[in-house]
Amino acid sequence: MAIKFNETEKIFSIHTKNSTYQMKVDAYGFLLHLYYGRRTDGTADYLLTYADRGFSGNPYDVGQDRTYSLDALPQEFPCRGNGDFRSPALDVKTADGVYGCDLRYAGHRVSTGKYSIPGLPAVHAGEGEAETLEIILKDEAMNLQVCLLYGILPELDVITRAVRVQNDGKDSVFLEKVQSACLDFVGGRFDLLTFYGRHAMERNMQRTAVTHVCQRIGSRRGTSSHQYNPLLLLAEQDATEEHGACYAMSFVYSGGFQGEAERDQYNQTRMMLGLCEEQFSYPLAPGSVFHAPEVIMTYSGEGLGQVSRNLHKCINRHVCRGNYKNLTSRPILVNSWEASYFHFDGQTIRNLAREAAALGVEMLVMDDGWFGKRDDDNSGLGDWHVNEKKLGCSLKELVDDVNALGLKFGIWFEPEMINEDSALYRAHPDWALARPNRKPVRGRGQLVLDFSRKEVVDAIFDQVCDVLDQANIEYLKWDINRSICDVYTHGENSQETVLYDYMLGLYDFLERLINRYPNLLIEGCSGGGGRFDAGMLYYTPQIWCSDNTDAVDRTRIQYGTSFGYPVSTVGSHVSAVPNHQTGRVVSLKTRGIVAMSGTFGYELDFGRLSDAEKDEIRGQIATYKDLAGLIQNGDYHRLSNPFTDETAAWEVVSEDKDEALVFAVMLEIHGNMPVSYIKVRGLAPGALYMDMETKKTYSSDILMESGLPLVAWFGSHQSFYWHLKRQA
Ligand code: GLA
Repeated sequence: MAIKFNETEKIFSIHTKNSTYQMKVDAYGFLLHLYYGRRTDGTADYLLTYADRGFSGNPYDVGQDRTYSLDALPQEFPCRGNGDFRSPALDVKTADGVYGCDLRYAGHRVSTGKYSIPGLPAVHAGEGEAETLEIILKDEAMNLQVCLLYGILPELDVITRAVRVQNDGKDSVFLEKVQSACLDFVGGRFDLLTFYGRHAMERNMQRTAVTHVCQRIGSRRGTSSHQYNPLLLLAEQDATEEHGACYAMSFVYSGGFQGEAERDQYNQTRMMLGLCEEQFSYPLAPGSVFHAPEVIMTYSGEGLGQVSRNLHKCINRHVCRGNYKNLTSRPILVNSWEASYFHFDGQTIRNLAREAAALGVEMLVMDDGWFGKRDDDNSGLGDWHVNEKKLGCSLKELVDDVNALGLKFGIWFEPEMINEDSALYRAHPDWALARPNRKPVRGRGQLVLDFSRKEVVDAIFDQVCDVLDQANIEYLKWDINRSICDVYTHGENSQETVLYDYMLGLYDFLERLINRYPNLLIEGCSGGGGRFDAGMLYYTPQIWCSDNTDAVDRTRIQYGTSFGYPVSTVGSHVSAVPNHQTGRVVSLKTRGIVAMSGTFGYELDFGRLSDAEKDEIRGQIATYKDLAGLIQNGDYHRLSNPFTDETAAWEVVSEDKDEALVFAVMLEIHGNMPVSYIKVRGLAPGALYMDMETKKTYSSDILMESGLPLVAWFGSHQSFYWHLKRQA
């Protein structure tokens, strides 16, 4: 059993392969956090210290013992109102305006398998792969029950957390803040790694010391956002890719969130992740239950690289679902967006498909512009009816033609959105989120549909199904191209719960869609990677990583993304040069190498390429097909930091260490250029590896100690690629 409870000491120990997590129910029934770190059979309650500390209050039932204060003790699920003045994980208010609660242990349950959460995405696992611990805490005065859920995947060193709040009282209460996971550390010095960005430049890594200032990131945009990713890493200050204790929290939720880290007055660190507390005051009626979304946690004593690999495996195996779960089953696609934007007809699509088929591409995706009145981004959203006039044929005719060329067919939708210039808006203006007596804020000229209302979700679901039923459509790109600003529903739900209910509506739509079309591959998208999170990956096993297809910028975007998400989830395409977002010209080879560390595809008009370029593309596709299995199942290593180093380099090593792929892009070029050496990681020590292209043999020890030389005397952004195989 991964979960142990020592009845005498009242200590919970959760063991994974390489980690132990410990909590204790103390003499007063408070649940204190003891330890999270390297696997141990020891007990960590000796870490708790007690002293009379000024201005750190004492719970009433400790009597005259002034040495007991929750302001100083590490807590498992801190709440406002019990004398802990640090940031709480739970804040509850009564209808009379009384804040705070007092949570005491009331029991626990252990079961095999992994819990799920009604209406929300969550890590899934077979009966034998996981265990669940539920700890029940109670506030007697309000008769509120708080259940802390822990899902343990011992093999992957993953512990998931979620929270269920149940009102057993007679009066409604308001949940003002519910975080899904909190970690308190009594000592240590840590850095916090967060991933900030903007449209077309997502997930830049920022590493800052955790100090006596509350660092808080998050999104109040109703989506997880380009600006901050719902992923927090905490690392010992001297931790590197390969060394040191590191922790991760990844939110399995696609709406607003917040993450906090702070060193307190006694130099203890608290880290938390959960729902955005702004515009959140969840009314919990008597007898009702609130589910806080899940957080995936993992620990490694062996650096940031291992923490990422734990998350990669968890997402690959236990978040993504369906027939297209594996990268190897994903079709290599060409997307029409950068090839023709809104300006196409059926013939343009057929031409692109014909060119694509001749190169070995497996699927054609018709992007935005095929429906309603949609020749630019000012109209049409909400009217999901095929514009046969524009296409010059029915959807079925077009799809049949593309299929006849040997290609699958995919299509773009933006189901959550509505343009004022649409039949849907004219019929149901109240279906758009808008505050009374105010003009709404537009984004990309569009408004947001109120997905907190079931009738709205149902109506769009019917429209989408009607299109999907017309032809053999095997892929859907699910886009959302703005942030949510006007948080007001014209439906019956409470105004305080709109953003949360919106997410339930979205997840319900997606769940129904994958149940009805189990063979449909859905790719998530939000102006590229504006909703790139583990929640979406439960429904869409790949997400368009960024609207920026520039290979050089992509090395940075994909570097940041790799901290939390596996290669199989990263939509990455070769596009035209000069690049449409940056104007940069980079070789086809470099563009290919960068796109190959993702769900590979193209986003350009093949008709404009030379024969030599087409030949090169044939080669890229053949190579990718060969390597997809290794890329999907291998262990990912970051070999450089492309924000600070002159190279971008990364590697995938098969689990048995028999094969490795090393990729590198030179980001700098200077006169009389020094040679860069890239140290390879994760190979079997004392072994020989052969480079499959040159047949040259290398010692693994030297590869790992001294590296591979990147010889780039002339030419910008040259790229390198080695396929190494262990010799018997
Ligand atoms: C977003 C997406 C693009 C493309 C356009 C279409 O920006 O990220 O890939 O689909 O919308 O309007």
